[in-house]
Formats: sequence, C-alpha cells, structure tokens
Amino acid sequence: ATYDLVIIGTGPGGYVCAVRAAQLGMKVAVVEKNPTLGGTCLNVGCMPSKALLHASEMFEEAGHSFAKMGVAVPPPKLDLPSMMDFKQQGIDGNVKGVDFLMKKNRIDVIRGTGRILGAGKVEVTSGEGKALVETKNIVIATGSDIARLRGIEIDEKRIVSSTGALSLDRVPGKLLIVGAGVIGLELGSVWHRLGAQVTVVEFLDRILPGMDGEIAKQFQRILEKQGFAFRLGAKVTGVDTSGRTLAAKVEPASGGSAETIDADVVLVCIGRVPYTDGLGLKEAGIAVDDRGRVQIDAHFSTNVKGVFAIGDVVAGPMLAHKAEDEGVACAEIIAGQAGHVNYDVIPAVVYTTPEVSSVGKTEEELKQAGINYTVGKFPFTANGRSKVNQTTDGFVKILADAKTDRVVGVHIIGREAGEMIHEAAVLMEFGGSAEDLARTCHAHPTRSEAIKEAALAVGKRAIHM
Ligand code: FAD
Ligand code: NAI
Repeated sequence: ATYDLVIIGTGPGGYVCAVRAAQLGMKVAVVEKNPTLGGTCLNVGCMPSKALLHASEMFEEAGHSFAKMGVAVPPPKLDLPSMMDFKQQGIDGNVKGVDFLMKKNRIDVIRGTGRILGAGKVEVTSGEGKALVETKNIVIATGSDIARLRGIEIDEKRIVSSTGALSLDRVPGKLLIVGAGVIGLELGSVWHRLGAQVTVVEFLDRILPGMDGEIAKQFQRILEKQGFAFRLGAKVTGVDTSGRTLAAKVEPASGGSAETIDADVVLVCIGRVPYTDGLGLKEAGIAVDDRGRVQIDAHFSTNVKGVFAIGDVVAGPMLAHKAEDEGVACAEIIAGQAGHVNYDVIPAVVYTTPEVSSVGKTEEELKQAGINYTVGKFPFTANGRSKVNQTTDGFVKILADAKTDRVVGVHIIGREAGEMIHEAAVLMEFGGSAEDLARTCHAHPTRSEAIKEAALAVGKRAIHM
C-alpha cells in the first residue's frame, strides 16, 4: 500500500487525526472534496459564527453599553460588507493554518471526492478524473449536513440553513427561526443584535434540549429580556414564498389550528445529520445505524477491518472538540497505542451573551439515573468582578454526588462561561470533589471565583452569599 492511513474529510476530526498519525510516524493522506480544508467547523460552522458573534457583540456594546461607562460615542453604524470581510479573514486565516499543518507534518492532500471500494482502497474523483489510492487503514471523517424540514425548500436566500444565515447580504427586518437549539440561539443573537426582530419556533416545550433544565429556563428569560420571542411547543408546517414577505404556518406541536407568522428570512436549524453521500458504504459493506451514522465499536472500528470512523458521522455530540479528540484517539489506536475519549467529560458551550456552558450530568440525568446529589449555586450578582463590570446575568451550578462529594456536573450561564468551564473539566477528569474545588485558591477579582463559591455552596458555606 502507498499509505499507512488515508482519511476522508478534513474537518476537525479528519485533520487532527492526520496530524496525530503523522506524529506517530505514519505515512498519511487526506482526501477533501471542498476547495478549502477545515470542514464544516472552519468554513461554515464554529469559526464564521464566532466571528459574527464577536463583531455583532461589539456593535451592540458600542450602541448600548459604552455610554454607561462614560465612553461617549455616536450611535454605531453597521457596515455589513466589512463585517462579512472580517468573518472571511477569520475563515481564511484558519484554513491557511490547516494547510500549514498538513505541510509541516508531510501529509498529502488529495483533492476530490473519496469513495471506499473496500478495505485498503479509496477511489478519488476530481475534475481530473478518477484515481485509486491504496492504504493500510481508512478513517471516515466526512462529518454532517443540515437536517431538512419536509415541504420547506432551503434556497439559502430567504429560507436559509446556518450556511445562508452566516452570509445574509442585509439585516432581515423579521427573522423567523425554526429550532431553539445552539444554531438558532447563536445566529439569532447575531441578527438580533444587528437589528432583526427574532422569533424562535421550537417543537419541544423548552429551549436547548439536553442542557440542564434550570439553566435553559433562566437563559430563556435572559434572551426574552434581550428581545427574543419564543413559540415553544410549536412547529412550522409550511412557508408560503409567493409574497414579498414569507408567510410561515405555525401549528401547536400536538396539532391544532395554525397561525401565520410573517418573516423576511426563515432560518431552519433543527439539527444535523451524518453525511455519507457517495462514500460507497453500502457497496463496501460498512454498517450504519438506524439514523444513518457509521457504526463503530469502542475502538472507532467499523465492521470492515482497517476502516474506522470519527466525528459527526458517528454517534455522540456533534461538536468539533469531540471530533478532534476522537481523531487523536483513533490515530493512536491505529498505531497500536491505547487511545481513549472520556465521553463523560465533554464540555458544551453556547456562544451567546451571556454564554452557556456545561460539562457532565444535568440534574434531570442524575434524577433519571437515581443518583443522590447535592447542588451548589452561586449567582454572578454576588461576584465582585461581575458587579464592577455590570455584567451580572447568570449563575454557576455545581452538582456533586451526595455520598462521595465527587463533582458530576457543572453548568454556567454568564459572560465568559465558555472559558470558565474548563477548570471543572480538569477537576472531573481527575475525579475531584466539590471540596477540592472549594479549597483551590482562585485569583481575585475574577469571574471564576463564582465557581469556587458554588463549590463552597455544595457544602452550604459560600462566603459572599
Ligand atoms: P466536518 O467538519 O463536517 O468535516 C467533514 C469534511 O469532509 C468536509 O470538509 C467535507 O467536505 C468532507 N467530505 C465529506 N464527504 C467527503 C468525501 N466523500 N470525500 C472527500 N471529502 C468529503 N462545534 C463546536 O464544537 N463548537 C462550535 O462553536 C460549533 N459551531 C457550529 C456552528 C455552525 C453554524 C455549525 C453548522 C456547526 C457548528 N459546530 C460547532 C459543529 C462542528 O462544526 C462539527 O461538530 C464539526 O465540524 C465536525 O467535524 P468533522 O470533522 O466530524 O466533520
Ligand atoms: P440542535 O440539535 O442543537 O437544535 C435543534 C432544535 O430544533 C432542537 O431544540 C429541536 O427540538 C428543534 N426541532 C427539531 N425539529 C423541529 C421542528 N420540526 N420544528 C421546530 N423545532 C424543531 O441543532 P442545531 O441548532 O441545528 O445545531 C446542529 C448541531 O451543530 C448541534 O447538534 C450542535 O452540536 C452543533 N453546533 C454546536 C455549536 C456550539 O457548540 N456552540 C454551535 C452551533 C452548532
């Protein structure tokens, strides 16, 4: 075989797997059908959305928060093309970074669409025709695609997925969002800050399913205070595109009489599905589960020897860092080492203002598993740094095993919550207790002191509350 390892897809799963495999001495190639490397995350996911979240937050702050701090500026004017340039520069910089990593680690980049012909054989189709690549091992890292709503056609202009919502050429007067998940709330925040009226229609009776219920409830209140409108327990059953404005038909989730909501743009973000089109899984005899995800064992191996899979295309949270860690572990396993991912400690962050972050179990999960737990909470209104900055929305919540005091879940709403969650992740990797956290000296004044106080609150001895 020409290669030790060929990876199909260069998202955070694929390119990280490639780098780790090269570090371990393998001869590696990646196959990518997109003109640029980096996958969903770098091109139309994490990175562009975070660029727009940052820029729109600055816009919002300049308009609404500077004055109270004594920074008098005229009302900011939106220059959307420049904001989109800012976003594109961020994408380009990161994509170039992946190009550099491929070169640095002597990883061959094969342009085209990969198809698995069987163990050890990948056919790559490009503008130049078909080529056969031979390899000892194959990793499928083809990621995911948007989930579609039956009867609602996405044109990426007026009815958009996240991809279109990252590139609108003007601020919609009214933005209707289908799905109160991570994409809906992040991209809804972007356009709301830039001036859109945002209504979110969610099938369930709550936002952010999977997140801790108390956190989701308070977060919904904060978003409503910001101006978001929510229609929970409702579904969009059709969008009439014949008029100048769109007319969406909204029905109660359980059925009943429909109402019409007008919108300039409808964003459909009801989840993502594994992407395996053209990969030849069926012909190669590679098994998928009932949701179309490539089936793997505990060592990322499919049912065909020498073919592995990682990232969004397999089960588990569809997160870039989960894909990356699987990429590392999978490369190590192929190299004969003991690669491993701890699925109990995968942080999740919603990059809104305030941010929401969490790691480990929610209260609902603990109840369902019949685990006795203690709760320690601490609000940012009682945190000195948050008070002086006047950014006091949110709180920290720590869940610990009632018998052992071991921390089993940490949930935060608040500014910078996405950066703050990692001390909890490290603690949990080491099996630490709330007591450990509470006795760890935290720098003053920081927002992270709220984590220490919440840990103290587990033992009912918070100082500043
Ligand atoms: P992908 O990144 O999807 O990469 C797969 C790659 O495979 C693509 O480049 C594709 O072109 C290529 N490919 C597919 N089939 C073939 C083939 N047959 N031949 C050759 N190439 C092929 N996650 C986070 O953790 N944090 C975030 O903030 C975040 N924000 C997001 C925002 C948005 C708007 C979206 C849509 C997603 C976001 N995600 C975020 C999710 C994150 O993007 C994914 O979890 C991550 O990209 C998955 O990585 P992956 O490597 O499995 O697949
Ligand atoms: P999601 O799974 O987070 O949320 C989808 C929401 O749509 C859910 O609340 C669901 O109940 C609802 N829904 C489903 N069908 C519906 C219908 N017919 N009508 C109304 N509501 C409906 O999916 P989302 O937001 O599309 O994001 C996709 C993936 O991308 C997520 O799984 C997430 O892992 C990843 N992502 C991660 C980010 C982050 O880590 N910050 C940011 C953006 C995306």
